[in-house]
Amino acid sequence: MTISVENPVSVHEDFTTQTKTEELQSDSRIPMSTIPSNDEVFLAPEVNAFGREFRNYEDENNERQKSVEEFYKTQHINQTLDFVKKMRHDYGKLDKMVMNIWECCELLNEVVDESDPDLDEPQIQHLLQTAEAIRKDYPDEDWLHLTALIHDLGKVLTLPQFGGLPQWAVVGDTFPVGCAFDESNIHHKYFKENPDFNNPTYNTKTGIYSEGCGLENVSMSWGHDDYMYMVAKENGSTLPSPGLFIIRYHSFYPLHKAGAYTHLMNDEDKENLKWLHVFNKYDLYSKSKVHVDVEKVKPYYMSIIKKYFPENLKW
Ligand SMILES: [Fe+2]
Ligand SMILES: [Fe+2]
Repeated sequence: MTISVENPVSVHEDFTTQTKTEELQSDSRIPMSTIPSNDEVFLAPEVNAFGREFRNYEDENNERQKSVEEFYKTQHINQTLDFVKKMRHDYGKLDKMVMNIWECCELLNEVVDESDPDLDEPQIQHLLQTAEAIRKDYPDEDWLHLTALIHDLGKVLTLPQFGGLPQWAVVGDTFPVGCAFDESNIHHKYFKENPDFNNPTYNTKTGIYSEGCGLENVSMSWGHDDYMYMVAKENGSTLPSPGLFIIRYHSFYPLHKAGAYTHLMNDEDKENLKWLHVFNKYDLYSKSKVHVDVEKVKPYYMSIIKKYFPENLKW
């Protein structure tokens, strides 16, 4: 079944135009654009590009879902605090490549995300479908369009030039390490084989952290979110705080979908989370078989890249 972003099936769940208005107008740091009328707002389809419910990890008859479960098993066993520290240290050097943002968008086309039960399209289409859908509803928030365009660029970590990391160290939902793995993590049972699971320093609710310490002080499982955040931050991007937050935590479904780990957030995180909720609808539900015309939209994206990023970036 083909889903068209232009002609969506129906509203799926928790997001409506109302939540957009009410939740976000309290955030004074990023002024809200005019709220679009109901017929213009992006409506989320009920089913994914394969005609199935989004983020359904439980259908045992689906071959792709079996491989997704296998993926999460490996991820949960291997993402330890030590592993995360090593990755942040190694990749924090940003010594793999020098290139601009658009070159990276094109490079990403070589990547397929095995953890995603909803998508088998080239990644640049996912980036542009997300960005174009959000641009339609928030035409004045150019930082949000750009955030959408670049949010998955960190997936280049799977490519040989970037050390060819295995999928479990690049994609999939993310979660804090150094404290107990919350039960809302999908396929939680596989954490029992993670060495940190039985470490008394790491397996309490706050673990090595403290209440309200702020997510920036929390080590997240290593993947494309944290890597792209590092790249943006270290290269001096002027994206506002909610943009950087979205990039860094968009795969943190236990937080933004299940509401877990909120005890680790500080006030700034709570404000930024409102924008992540907005973004997530587009990230998840704009996945579609309808292709965006890359050459047609490229000039616009080149102009906002120039506004928020230097010409060349270290990766
Ligand atoms: Fe992502
Ligand atoms: Fe994405």
